[in-house]
Amino acid sequence: MNKIHAAITAVNGYVPDYVLTNHELETMVDTNDEWITTRTGIKERRILKGEGLGTSDMAVPAVNGLLKKRGIGADEIDLIIFCTSTPDRVFPATANILADKIGAKNAWGYDLQATCSGFLFGLATGSQFIESGKHKKVLVVGGDKMSSMIDYKDRATCIIFGDGCGAVLLEPNDEGNGIIDSVLKSDGAGLPFLHQKAGGSARPTSHETIDAREHYLYQEGQSVFKFAVTNMAEVAAEVMERNNLTANDIAWLVPHQANKRIIDATASRTGVSSDKVIINIERYGNTTNGTLPLCLWEWEDKFKKGDNLIIAAFGGGFTWGSIYLKWAY
Ligand code: UT7
Repeated sequence: MNKIHAAITAVNGYVPDYVLTNHELETMVDTNDEWITTRTGIKERRILKGEGLGTSDMAVPAVNGLLKKRGIGADEIDLIIFCTSTPDRVFPATANILADKIGAKNAWGYDLQATCSGFLFGLATGSQFIESGKHKKVLVVGGDKMSSMIDYKDRATCIIFGDGCGAVLLEPNDEGNGIIDSVLKSDGAGLPFLHQKAGGSARPTSHETIDAREHYLYQEGQSVFKFAVTNMAEVAAEVMERNNLTANDIAWLVPHQANKRIIDATASRTGVSSDKVIINIERYGNTTNGTLPLCLWEWEDKFKKGDNLIIAAFGGGFTWGSIYLKWAY
């Protein structure tokens, strides 16, 4: 019997309607379109507006659309892995909230927190349940409402992030397609450079933490940039080398969308030509857990069965990694 791989069999995405342009940001902080475009590649990002709406509210249309495309009901899903750094609430898990909203009555689920590498880690984790034979349908959702933790007075971070969500379905494949290999890494020494200072158990919310603006995302951009630019490229190259893949074998490079310059460095290190590199950062900015599924969603029509994809990510923590998969449809 052929080995069972976990293959993506459907993908869908959702971005909110509101477009926050560089020009609007110019009216909010001391910045300009030229600086943002040349330093990051971003032109605009989407923002989820509306009282009481959270990350799960972007996941609902993404997942409902996915189920429709695949022609299955929510009750057929076995497991939901919700990869997010902006859960609806600290608890319960957003996976549970989503399951309830879409009627996934037979699924269990959990949230996965690995910042910008979350969706990649979710794919790697979800695939284990398929390969082991435990489950037949695993939903991996990646999404963030980054606007909920961004300080729109901090020009170094508010220009980068946006809101969005995507989802994929993993199912068993015995034709040799699906997730073939992964290299996954974490290093807790990265904490000082990218974190949220308060709101967790170590520093619970108080008047003091709010007055000190400690609930916003804190980033030392240059330090993160240095780690990201080297590590995302290295790990993508590593997964290619150990699978004997050269740039010519790769149909698509799918990089996390944090900064166009980091994406270019990864493309350059792997040798993959720019026409095979998926980039939508100019329209969505960095949606954290949303970037990779949104890329897969927007390029789905261009993928062919058997295409070799290299997915790579780097995020706070630090966390980083790369997955080699063969597209299954
Ligand atoms: O996805 C999660 C992981 N995160 C990342 O991968 C992000 C990695 N970091 C980056 O992408 C970049 O470091 C940033 C885009 C955040 C910043 O770009 P940079 O080229 O590293 O700029 P910088 O922080 O070195 O700042 C250069 C200058 C500074 O001014 P001085 O000190 O040279 O006078 C900043 O104050 O640019 C200034 N600056 C800005 N100017 C206009 C910072 N932000 C802005 C801004 N508009 N929005």
